Amino acid sequence: MTDRPRLTVLGTGYLGITHAACMASAGFEVLGVDIDAEKVAQLNAGQVPIFEPGLEELLRAGLAAGRLSFTTSYEKAAEVGDVHFVCVGTPQRRDGHSADLSQIEACIDALAPSLTRPCLVVGKSTVPAGTAAVLAERLASKAPAGEAAEICWNPEFLREGHGVADTLNPDRIVVGIRSARAERLLRQVYATQIKAGVEFFVTDLNTAELAKVAANAFLATKISFINAVAEVCDAAAADVTVLSRILGADPRIGHAFLRPGLGFGGGCLPKDVRAFLARAAELGAGDALAFLREVDSINLNRRTGMVNLACEVAGGSVAGKSVCVLGAAFKPGSDDVRDSPALDVAQILHGLGAEVTVHDPQAIDNARLAWPELRYADSVRAAAAGADLVLLLTDWPEYAAIDPHELAEVTAAPRIIDGRYALDPAVWRAAGWHYRASGVPGDARSDQLT
Ligand code: UDX
Repeated sequence: MTDRPRLTVLGTGYLGITHAACMASAGFEVLGVDIDAEKVAQLNAGQVPIFEPGLEELLRAGLAAGRLSFTTSYEKAAEVGDVHFVCVGTPQRRDGHSADLSQIEACIDALAPSLTRPCLVVGKSTVPAGTAAVLAERLASKAPAGEAAEICWNPEFLREGHGVADTLNPDRIVVGIRSARAERLLRQVYATQIKAGVEFFVTDLNTAELAKVAANAFLATKISFINAVAEVCDAAAADVTVLSRILGADPRIGHAFLRPGLGFGGGCLPKDVRAFLARAAELGAGDALAFLREVDSINLNRRTGMVNLACEVAGGSVAGKSVCVLGAAFKPGSDDVRDSPALDVAQILHGLGAEVTVHDPQAIDNARLAWPELRYADSVRAAAAGADLVLLLTDWPEYAAIDPHELAEVTAAPRIIDGRYALDPAVWRAAGWHYRASGVPGDARSDQLT
């Protein structure tokens, strides 16, 4: 083994590309591996197939320095790598709430037969507690190196849209290990971050696995808490936006993840909440996490609540009405539409007979692939042209800057529902709009469509 371990990154999704490019920028030799030959060619040509600020520059710098390359060959990965990072997806199973581990298993099975010398296989993907211990046996039984091919777990907490910064400067590093050798190697890999003072937690495998799902379940709980309070605000004619600022001012509560809105979506929070629950139930501790079922349903109720509000504002039904949906990504700063609350609402309204036109600054291509039956527009004005109702469903900063007077010039009626509390109700109402948001007191006028 050389002084500096040589790294491979298995799986080049959001997590894998970011990790590979960041590790190369830290001076490591990195080989990225993916079974998708087209993606590998694209990455070797310096193109990032996802929207992630700063990533393409880092990828190109790594390629130009000769430290970063991509391949489809697991044999090559086994040959060059001292530390193999597993970054493949662990989506929700189609037939239930637990995590689908088939990509991880396939990855271990593809790598193991070529592992002839001591190495570390580091899981970064989010997995249920107990997975690493099972994979360790699987790996050792299939690798010629036997138990010298060792598993450890190093969960990744990066947020989409902030992937580069979160990887280079994480707020903590967690490593679940079984040997001093594994700890030593991982301390080498993360030497820069450790030197910069990032807290480095060394744990057993199960604790490391749980650290990730528990963190995401807590974040989801915070969001669902404030969204449940928004419903009470609705009933009590109180203002949830003011209330959330008041709550967040208590340092024990904090402002982060207390923004009310259409709820959480994306490739992580929704499936992690469900997988955490499913695993706890398998372990006989399902009752302890029963509240997460409520967290999930409060979250999904925000989407149906938005549909009901749209129907109400549209005069009882959206059938035949033209609806402009602003936002398709699951959150601003991303082109990811996985489990996007905005697209879910757009799709339900379409199913109810509305003519839905969607705008998004980054996610239109992905949205079109997922929901080809919706209409898409390149600009906010084009999306809103002739609209009976405008819905703001993803809080892109550019939507907060929309001039209500200019938008009213193109819509059929000045009616807007702000699903993300991104607009100032006073400004929009003063400009003649009927502004609605759940948990924000309405205006006195009743100007529903008839
Ligand atoms: C999340 C975790 O933050 C990250 O640590 C983990 O590694 C992966 O999952 P990400 O999926 O990128 O990251 O999204 P995040 O920024 O956490 O937002 C999740 C969802 O919650 C989004 O749909 C967002 O719009 C919503 N959200 C977030 C709120 O509704 N209110 C808030 O206050 C914060």
